[in-house]
Amino acid sequence: MNFWKKLKKPILILAPMEGVTDTVFRQIVVSVGKPDVFFTEFVPVDALFSKGQEKILASLKFTKKERPVVAQIWGTDPEKFCLAAQMLSKLKFDGIDINMGCPDKNAVKSGACAALLKNFKLAQEIITATIKGSKGLPVSVKTRIGYKEINTENWVTALLQTPVSALTLHLRTVFEMSKVPAHWDELKSVLKIRENLKSKALIIGNGDIKTIQEAKDKCKEYKIDGAMIGRGIFENVWLFNESIDVSKITPKHKIKLLQKHLQLFKKTYGGSRHFELMKKFVKCYVSGFDGASEKRIQLMQTKTLDRLIETAGELNGRI
Ligand SMILES: Cc1cc2nc3c(=O)[nH]c(=O)nc-3n(C[C@H](O)[C@H](O)[C@H](O)COP(=O)(O)O)c2cc1C
Repeated sequence: MNFWKKLKKPILILAPMEGVTDTVFRQIVVSVGKPDVFFTEFVPVDALFSKGQEKILASLKFTKKERPVVAQIWGTDPEKFCLAAQMLSKLKFDGIDINMGCPDKNAVKSGACAALLKNFKLAQEIITATIKGSKGLPVSVKTRIGYKEINTENWVTALLQTPVSALTLHLRTVFEMSKVPAHWDELKSVLKIRENLKSKALIIGNGDIKTIQEAKDKCKEYKIDGAMIGRGIFENVWLFNESIDVSKITPKHKIKLLQKHLQLFKKTYGGSRHFELMKKFVKCYVSGFDGASEKRIQLMQTKTLDRLIETAGELNGRI
């Protein structure tokens, strides 16, 4: 049942990103270069059992080709984590990840996500409850290395005292947001803690990686099990395909992939997901060639999804 154990190392993962790594984008990524593991966007456990359930369930959609896919959840109530884990197991996810790192003000105010770095006891209770509800699915945690100050030693010890299957460390404090370079050297103490506690958790590093070569180098240098890449995918959607030199991809091919993404978005959601979300992808596809910025302006000025799709088609027809 534990898919993590079957993966070849180093494990290369596309980071969970809200408004980005939905089933549509994951399918696009599969079509050009698949990572070893996908994560969903983070989903509040409270909403899984509320009136807004339908919308949340839509953000948990996935297709077979995205496997292995891990559902990421967040919240404060261990009981709800247990129920959410039961639901995710029924939805046939490959794993469940708990977000303990997002610095979003409202989430933190409620005591969830990054606030758990200040509440070790609740963090452990949440992990235990999730494992209880998970029916054998592996449970992992994605977090940072401290709240205001770096606190790797105490925090990672608390986490690895639980039987988590994997621990992803975004190597910055909550206060640092994404503003300073990630502290990769902290992984040395993480590995010592794992050894001392005889934990079997896989250790995944995250922060500032832009290429697969860089990810592999980091895994080798720090002797970790895998690396997770987030914003790097915006610069190169083909990132996980090592055999493709992105500088050789033609503008026509890039815009064609944007068209495919837009059409899949329309087919998947109809009008139920706001189309403006798609605009953040325009730069991923329409960049790195002459005339890209003018084309981006035209695309960004569109007011509906259909018009965005048409404009992408017109631009491609003229190349
Ligand atoms: C737009 C955006 C959305 C994000 N949403 C999530 C999320 O839902 N869950 C999560 O654990 N991290 C989220 N993150 C953080 C990333 O997963 C990752 O930890 C962070 O970007 C650092 O990695 P990078 O330097 O490779 O981008 C988000 C980051 C960005 C830029």
